Amino acid sequence: MAEIVLTAFLQVLFDKLTSPKLEEYELWLGAKKELEELESTLSTIAAVLDDAEERQVKDKAVRNWLMKLKDAVYDADAVLDEFATKALQQKVKSQDHTNRWVSSFLQVPNSVALHVKMGSMIKEINKRLNAIALERVNFHFREGIRDVEKEDNECRQTHSFVIESEVFGREKDKAEIVDMLIGWGNGEDLSVIPIVGMGGIGKTTLAQLAFNDVKVKDSFKLRMWVCVSEDFDVPRLTKAIIEAATKERCDLLGMDLLQTRLRERLAGEKFLLVLDDVWSEDYEKWDRLRTLLRGGAKGSKIIVTSRSTGVAAIMGSLPTCYLARLSDDDCWTLFRKRAFGNGGAEQTPRMVAIGKEIVKKCGGIPLAIKTLGSLMRSRREEREWLYVKDNELWRLPQERDGILPALRISYNHLPSYLKRCFAYCAVFPKDYDINKERLIQMWMAEGLVEPSDAAEQLEDVGNNYFNYLLWRSFFQVAEEDEDGSIVSCKIHDLMHDLAQFVAGVECSILRQAQGRSSQKELVTYRWSATQEC
Ligand SMILES: Nc1ncnc2c1ncn2[C@@H]1O[C@H](COP(=O)(O)OP(=O)(O)O)[C@@H](O)[C@H]1O
Ligand SMILES: [Mg+2]
Repeated sequence: MAEIVLTAFLQVLFDKLTSPKLEEYELWLGAKKELEELESTLSTIAAVLDDAEERQVKDKAVRNWLMKLKDAVYDADAVLDEFATKALQQKVKSQDHTNRWVSSFLQVPNSVALHVKMGSMIKEINKRLNAIALERVNFHFREGIRDVEKEDNECRQTHSFVIESEVFGREKDKAEIVDMLIGWGNGEDLSVIPIVGMGGIGKTTLAQLAFNDVKVKDSFKLRMWVCVSEDFDVPRLTKAIIEAATKERCDLLGMDLLQTRLRERLAGEKFLLVLDDVWSEDYEKWDRLRTLLRGGAKGSKIIVTSRSTGVAAIMGSLPTCYLARLSDDDCWTLFRKRAFGNGGAEQTPRMVAIGKEIVKKCGGIPLAIKTLGSLMRSRREEREWLYVKDNELWRLPQERDGILPALRISYNHLPSYLKRCFAYCAVFPKDYDINKERLIQMWMAEGLVEPSDAAEQLEDVGNNYFNYLLWRSFFQVAEEDEDGSIVSCKIHDLMHDLAQFVAGVECSILRQAQGRSSQKELVTYRWSATQEC
């Protein structure tokens, strides 16, 4: 697992090895030769890593080689951390001879013994990594298959692009939903319309189209949107519905108060509620929520979106809308608009032919097409398009780990520092509104933002990273201010799965304590992602 993150992780090791802080330590001098050798071996290996990561999909020997490499690299990281700690302890000791208490507290070992111990540990790691580097020759990997420098330049530019939100090929589905919302079940207290389809196919988008339709707005004075996600917790949902209805924060505690407040707000109103992304097939929980939602005017409706037909069967009372894959023509239009023109790739017959092959591999899923469309926009050469089309990662079935191949390929094409910034986002819960400024501050606090020269402001670099990830569809816009500046973003749940996958299993997730996480909770969180996968 998590082999994808190796490239990003190697970068972390390089950063540690080349950190100017290291040279401040006396201990460094003793192990200088070994550390330089480590750095050189790692760069030899890093040069072939992209090819290796692709080939491991069908080649077991490559996969084993990568596993061995991963173990050695993690051990190297642990040794370097120990080295830095010991070196720091020695520095404190040498600066404070008089303070015996500090020395005994830190248990600073004898410096000669320490030199020998650390030197031999790094030698041992070097031996392992050298053997792995030698083995790579047997695989005849291609070196530096991606133009990393070019990618670097791409995302260091400021993107003043317009984010396309055009929706293709859902006119009929939208008309059906709007028709049901307005014309059906008007004698009933409450009817439920389920929208079902696989992840990334456009359920949320379709629900948004219906929610914002003029006729629907006219017909329902009160419209509320609530993201349910994996945890169908009735008190949390009740609170979220109250907040959506009143557009104010709700701090009421206890079901009695929540229930009374909700009833007051819904009384006599014809409302439309969207429950987006429901997973729970627990009938009792649904029944509790439905009871709480009684009391509105006749003709009130709920739209439920879900990947599960079971959810539709439990909750639905009107016909289910099964969302199909986008048609070939619509897929192509979506891809073409993103990949070509206006600074993108040139639409030659050859590129169109390759582009159509790439689109075919996306299986009619708009999220995959959109993501690859923006990747291809930044790749203008035919050889780069062929490289994506023939990528081995397409062969990896999504069932293996739930990750869409198109998203994995797109992630692989990020420069390593953006891989880390994206993987970091796994700490947010699913469907969380991520405040842009705060996210950039968090990246900065973790040392993930690297200016290319001293004159660059960290905030500006962080801002470019954010825009680039948005442009490449890793993020989606959640909220804009009156001037159209982005205030917050969201991560699609399939993208979130990818972030968690690359960050590793033990990455902790910020829980939304009773609704929203406070700023303090977010900032005090310690990121442990790449170190622990
Ligand atoms: N018909 C469409 N045309 C263009 N883009 C679409 C279409 N449907 C979905 N998308 C885009 O694909 C992505 C995933 O869609 P979403 O509605 O979130 O999927 P789901 O809710 O089924 O997981 C979003 O970025 C959305 O803008
Ligand atoms: Mg959705």
